[in-house]
Amino acid sequence: MAGSVVIVGGTQGLGRELAQSYADDGRDVVVTGRNQARAEAAAGEIGGSTRGLGFDLADPHSIKECLADVGDVDYLVLAAIERDVNKVAEYDIDAAIRLATLKLVGYNAVVHALLPRLGEDSAILIYGGLARDRPYPGSTTVTAVNGAVTSMVGTLVIELAPRRVNALHPAIVGDSPQWVNMPDERRESLIAATPIGRLVTMAEVVGAARFLLENKAMNGVNLTVDGGWLVKPA
Ligand SMILES: NC(=O)c1ccc[n+]([C@@H]2O[C@H](COP(=O)([O-])OP(=O)(O)OC[C@H]3O[C@@H](n4cnc5c(N)ncnc54)[C@H](OP(=O)(O)O)[C@@H]3O)[C@@H](O)[C@H]2O)c1
Repeated sequence: MAGSVVIVGGTQGLGRELAQSYADDGRDVVVTGRNQARAEAAAGEIGGSTRGLGFDLADPHSIKECLADVGDVDYLVLAAIERDVNKVAEYDIDAAIRLATLKLVGYNAVVHALLPRLGEDSAILIYGGLARDRPYPGSTTVTAVNGAVTSMVGTLVIELAPRRVNALHPAIVGDSPQWVNMPDERRESLIAATPIGRLVTMAEVVGAARFLLENKAMNGVNLTVDGGWLVKPA
């Protein structure tokens, strides 16, 4: 495969960890975030043959032009998120619209823009999350968009065949920037509910992502990465 690995939401967190893994293997990598300068800085820190691009997924009309000079793509990873803790009783409509647009329209606008450069052997990976299955107060938009990721995998598999499309749904990733400083009490209660006795790690999510991208039998899969958290004891 001679194309690049494009990671939308690759300037930080789980996307960046995956970008680092592919850059360390000598692959051409493109990482994106909302801001061009920040994306370029992240690309420089990742090193190797990595470039940074800035565009806002919540402004889907701008996406095609921003991706115009990206060449052939082997793996496209859609990992960006703007978290929206948003209770319906105090509803922040603008925040809800941004997150819904970002994942439901922005992700697909990226696929649309890059489609001519995604060869028959290419693969797409979408990041959802387990708020899909375990709602909490304020998670309405997050829960809904992660549920929609599950559905989108099906339509994209059918529309884009023979290209492969899969999704990952991690539980809370204990060493990710978003959660590394969570209160001890919350961490302990999550660990107590996780059969492996600890939270999953960024390295484990990278391993699962690479499996779904690289194993050519994997298609149409929504894979949970949660250490058994979703299993309920009898
Ligand atoms: N961390 C976890 O424990 C966890 C658990 C379950 C699911 N997930 C899922 O895994 C994915 C990655 O999560 P994370 O915690 O690693 O994320 P993160 O650390 O918050 O990083 C978010 C990334 O998305 C980019 N981004 C945010 N808003 C954007 C926008 N409007 N347009 C374009 N890019 C945007 C950010 O770039 P800039 O900041 O440079 O703009 C950054 O690269 C998400 O889809 C999330 O739902 C994560």
